[in-house]
Amino acid sequence: MDNSDQILDACTKRRTFAIISHPDAGKTTLTEKLLLYSGMIHAAGMVRGRKGRKAAASDWMAMEQERGISITASAMQFAYKDVLINVLDTPGHEDFSEDTYRTLTAADCAIMVIDAGKGVEKQTRKLFEVCRLRKIPVLTFINKMDMPGRDPLDLMNEVESVLQINSFAMNWPIGTGREFLGVYDRIKKESLIFTKVSHGGAQKAEIAHVSLDNSDIKNKLGEANYQALVQEIELLDMAGNAFDREEFLAGKVTPVFFASALTNFGIEPFFDAFIHLAPSPHIREAVASDGKEIEINPVETPFSAYVFKLQANMDRRHRDSMAFLRVCSGRFERDLVVKHHRLGREIRLSRPHGMVAGERTTLDFAYPGDIIGVINPGVFAIGDTISMTGGFNFKPLPQFQPEIFARVNPTDVGKRKSFDKGILQLTNEGAIQLFRPYEYVGEAIFGAVGQLQYEVMQYRLKDEYGVETTLTSLPYSCSAWLLGDFKTYKKTSTCLVVQDRSERPVVLFSSQWEKQYAITQNPNHQLVDILI
Ligand code: G4P
Repeated sequence: MDNSDQILDACTKRRTFAIISHPDAGKTTLTEKLLLYSGMIHAAGMVRGRKGRKAAASDWMAMEQERGISITASAMQFAYKDVLINVLDTPGHEDFSEDTYRTLTAADCAIMVIDAGKGVEKQTRKLFEVCRLRKIPVLTFINKMDMPGRDPLDLMNEVESVLQINSFAMNWPIGTGREFLGVYDRIKKESLIFTKVSHGGAQKAEIAHVSLDNSDIKNKLGEANYQALVQEIELLDMAGNAFDREEFLAGKVTPVFFASALTNFGIEPFFDAFIHLAPSPHIREAVASDGKEIEINPVETPFSAYVFKLQANMDRRHRDSMAFLRVCSGRFERDLVVKHHRLGREIRLSRPHGMVAGERTTLDFAYPGDIIGVINPGVFAIGDTISMTGGFNFKPLPQFQPEIFARVNPTDVGKRKSFDKGILQLTNEGAIQLFRPYEYVGEAIFGAVGQLQYEVMQYRLKDEYGVETTLTSLPYSCSAWLLGDFKTYKKTSTCLVVQDRSERPVVLFSSQWEKQYAITQNPNHQLVDILI
């Protein structure tokens, strides 16, 4: 195999994705079942009972602690059947932050987990919006079908109306709640009936492949429920077109799967369908030095990657931070000397790390779709492009409007200089956003997407710069960039207009209602939530 055949083969085998959901929908459980079905763990349940752990830790940190791995992974790589999975960690809990959004940009597709009892929830909507803007195809996994939940058709309608995307049921639940027996595969036209396994679905569930008119199904569901099921399936067949993978890849339709991650019902057929439907690493858009938009082909372009996440090392004995890179093209080899486009110089990528088969390892090589972590002695910023050839930059990462705001000041005024130095570093890393009011330019305001960002900020200012700080929350709960003539913008009574680091005007609002009202008052201005 020559080099490009090798890269093509590696690309074809890889699936790089993220799981998005609102807290408690079942993301951790589903991730764990992926590990179970891929043979990475032999019994599920090690993440269970994690209620006592520190609230701000990501679930993966808990998993890693179980395995004696001390560093938080940004992605894990392992084999599922004949493909190589790269699953990205997108924390969705208390540690929800801008990182969560940025990490999504490194994914080629996403699995959206929805709780069948709750439908489309707030964080899922926000994360889905990022997928739409970045043209990331989304599969929908409707979880907890073993619990009394909402009507499946209702849930599909909600996905369509709230997220503005067409949906296609790939399977249909056979019974729900305690009577959830399995799923009817609408593509293969067969019923998959599962056998209950030990508590928490620690082991794989056995599957019986039977036809829909199987007498066992009829007996267990009862005549009325069985007839209703047959009618629903007929209705779906009559109403909808055939599933079109191209439309899914283009983000026009989301394939929907019903399952129960806890009991393993519908899990294996979902993973099997996923690896078949999900795209391999593909072309990425970039901007050449002359400003022209170009496409970076994963196989034909020599090695290129971009930084999507920086992570401070919380251990003070190792002050360097880690930079996480998504490989976009070519083959990466350890000690490769690459061009750092923003700095305009060459750097050697030594000691690259990855999480392979659950272990943090030094990577000797990596291919498109893979995530590599390198020590960052202050040379990497979020969004930096590196490559063998130089001459282009991957599109900038989207910037999101923060939702919580605070003033942070050094407790000891004598530490102002160290404080300013620390703030400069943290804002450069994208760890926190800094705004300055037009009127009182000295009074900086810090914006975050999640509370954890402040905790990390205060911790690092103390640990790395020796500055204790006080934090005063501000009464704003949403914001937006202001496009249009800033001077003619009509302010609402409790809003505050500030400027971001690039001197762009941003309006902070005390409520969504105020923001909506401001929109109606300013028809010639545009308020933007995400800068793409
Ligand atoms: P998250 O990562 O999206 O936040 O969700 P997670 O997997 O932690 O699941 C949240 C809760 O929902 C857990 O219960 C989990 O056991 C439960 N759960 C996940 N999938 C299913 C499912 O298919 N059916 C049912 N019935 N429950 C499900 P918990 O009580 O909060 O935690 P634990 O005590 O079980 O660990």
